[in-house]
Amino acid sequence: RRRTRVHHLQAMKAEGTRWAELTAYDYSSARLFEEAGIPVLLVGDSAANVVYGYDTTVPVTIDEMIPLVRGVVRGAPHALVIADLPFGSYEVSPQQALETAFRFMKEGQAHAVKLEGGERVAPQIAALTAAGIPVQAHIGFTPQSVNTLGGFRVQGRGDGAEQLIADAIAVQEAGAFSVVMEMVPAELAGQVTRKLTIPTVGIGAGNECDAQVLVWQDMAGFTSGKTPKFVKLFGEVGPALRTAAADYAAEVAAGTFPAAEHSF
Ligand code: KIV
Ligand code: NA
Repeated sequence: RRRTRVHHLQAMKAEGTRWAELTAYDYSSARLFEEAGIPVLLVGDSAANVVYGYDTTVPVTIDEMIPLVRGVVRGAPHALVIADLPFGSYEVSPQQALETAFRFMKEGQAHAVKLEGGERVAPQIAALTAAGIPVQAHIGFTPQSVNTLGGFRVQGRGDGAEQLIADAIAVQEAGAFSVVMEMVPAELAGQVTRKLTIPTVGIGAGNECDAQVLVWQDMAGFTSGKTPKFVKLFGEVGPALRTAAADYAAEVAAGTFPAAEHSF
């Protein structure tokens, strides 16, 4: 098995082979996802929520993200590892985007970067691609803009459909190798998927995208509180871990752990 590369994803779209992208934030989970055969791992800025406990993705910094990327790359030798550029680290100019992405590629050893926005970040995508950095775009609901989008809402309804299509075309023309569509009506996401030559990666965007992406804590039952409608629970890691921790503490309190076989 060789490392997944951008051209493999392109070939899969041409063949009609669907693939799964999953977030990862550390070495240990990345190793499990590598063993599961997940071809693309995203070190999402959702680390803001699931690693650092912030309410939104707005506060997380480059310096908080880079060490997570390093761990994921070490844990998953066959995955294409994408580093999500945090809010404020690329919007100012193509030069700012380049400086940030170089750090993620050199210090984080990422293979690609992701950023949010359509037409408005096309110059950034073009500059990164020209510099040899593959870019995954992200349109529809873009969590870094939660303060202007008016909360977690489906995007591309009504008049918004035209803008979504324009954004999708703009990121493809700027050189993005794929595009995440978040919280977009299924039919519109299907339309965009057929229109584009690059793979579309859906999250809350129906079943007609070329690929899907989820936050692993959401799909594995490791998130506290309510998960969005687009999440399916594929496992119950949270309850299993809570039980393991409680059993450990109980056995320590009872004096039954460590037993003779754990002792020297
Ligand atoms: O940060 C993240 O996890 C993401 C994906 C959910 C697309 O951007
Ligand atoms: Na993100």
